[in-house]
Amino acid sequence: MKSFIESSGFFKGNDPEQMLAQFGSPLYVYNEDILRDSMRKVMRMITKYKFTPNYSIKANSNLTILKIALEEGLNCDAMSECELRLLLHAGFTPDRILFVPNNVSESELKFAYDNGILTSLDSVDQVESWGKIAPGSKIAVRLNPGVGAGHHEKVVTAGKNTKFAITDDQIPALLEVAGKYDLKIVEVTQHIGSLFMNADPYITASRNLLHMAMNFPGLEFIDFGGGIGVPYHKVSQDEQPFDFQRLTEGMEAILDDFVKEYGSTPVFKAEPGRFIPCESGVLLGRVYATKNNSGKLFAGTDLGMNILVRPSMYDSWHDIEVIRDGKPVYEGDRQNVNVVGNICETGDIIARERDLPVIRRGDILCVLDAGAYGYSMSSNYNCRLRPAEILIGSDGAVKLIRRADTFDDLLKMFDV
Ligand code: LLP
Repeated sequence: MKSFIESSGFFKGNDPEQMLAQFGSPLYVYNEDILRDSMRKVMRMITKYKFTPNYSIKANSNLTILKIALEEGLNCDAMSECELRLLLHAGFTPDRILFVPNNVSESELKFAYDNGILTSLDSVDQVESWGKIAPGSKIAVRLNPGVGAGHHEKVVTAGKNTKFAITDDQIPALLEVAGKYDLKIVEVTQHIGSLFMNADPYITASRNLLHMAMNFPGLEFIDFGGGIGVPYHKVSQDEQPFDFQRLTEGMEAILDDFVKEYGSTPVFKAEPGRFIPCESGVLLGRVYATKNNSGKLFAGTDLGMNILVRPSMYDSWHDIEVIRDGKPVYEGDRQNVNVVGNICETGDIIARERDLPVIRRGDILCVLDAGAYGYSMSSNYNCRLRPAEILIGSDGAVKLIRRADTFDDLLKMFDV
């Protein structure tokens, strides 16, 4: 068994004990080199045609990470008005933002329109609402290419069983409403779901989307969405990274066919969220109690479902490394253990029946691949305070990029 934090030099010589002493436990820790590296990979996803990828900020909306994305030349997409506001605050100009909402109020649509942000509408009703607000304007539409994919049924967003997007049979109604308000459809988008390690469904869905795009002459952009996975089992099962080369080759082949047939060449886009911050982030926490309940071993930590909800929400797997005296432990006796948090739910579990080195009270646990959908899905359940986030810079310096909540933050909401 190897150690990712050791082989990647993740902490750049910083001692996890010292970081927890300074910033508190639990703690999200990001590595800037790994983050920038994944951003650069995404920028090169399609090279043969003009390609402007969006970073889908729902995965991690830390302001520092957004500013790094801006520096690296990424555009962004957002799901809510406050995500839009955060992007504007980070310095993204409206032409570098795409709004991809679902079932939003007229006031959210109006916010996007007033700020000059192109919006991908995902139902005929939302097109109607937009048309009333901004007749004669440009819009994008989100289409369902009929193929979905993802690590769990809860995150598959295309195909037959989803609330998202406009299906093939709704295109005549869409065109009618767009015509009624003189809306110009300049972009079609899709997002088929989240976390797949094989490029095939993405390429198949993209081929379908390009076929649907034939209904919309004069498109300026076509956006293939996100979903690109990261190897969550890289330590435990030596899982290999997503094969970008295969994706690039597959996509460029279908784009070659499309541009010949379509007659003009739109700018192509994608919307990866997870892929960008996921492997650059780990979550550190402390073991406060170990026990054997009726033959089941438990390691009780401060890594509750309020801090990282993915394992309880989707049964997601995150590799875990045990750190003792500042170093990963990966040799010696092992045990089958349930790693749990400090929340009053039996489902408050980070790892179920996991083969790990014997864990002792006082150890630090390092949960890998926590940079995406970690902090962004955290909550104050049980009145627990959300943790701080720190960034280890390329030079090894540690920077606080979000402070932990305080009790006063919780109280402030009652100040009415
Ligand atoms: N574009 C749209 C319209 C989306 O809804 C999403 C994710 C993305 C792009 C980015 O997808 P990604 O590249 O990150 O797969 N909380 C779940 C994932 C939910 C994804 C929601 N939409 C998880 O922790 O696995």
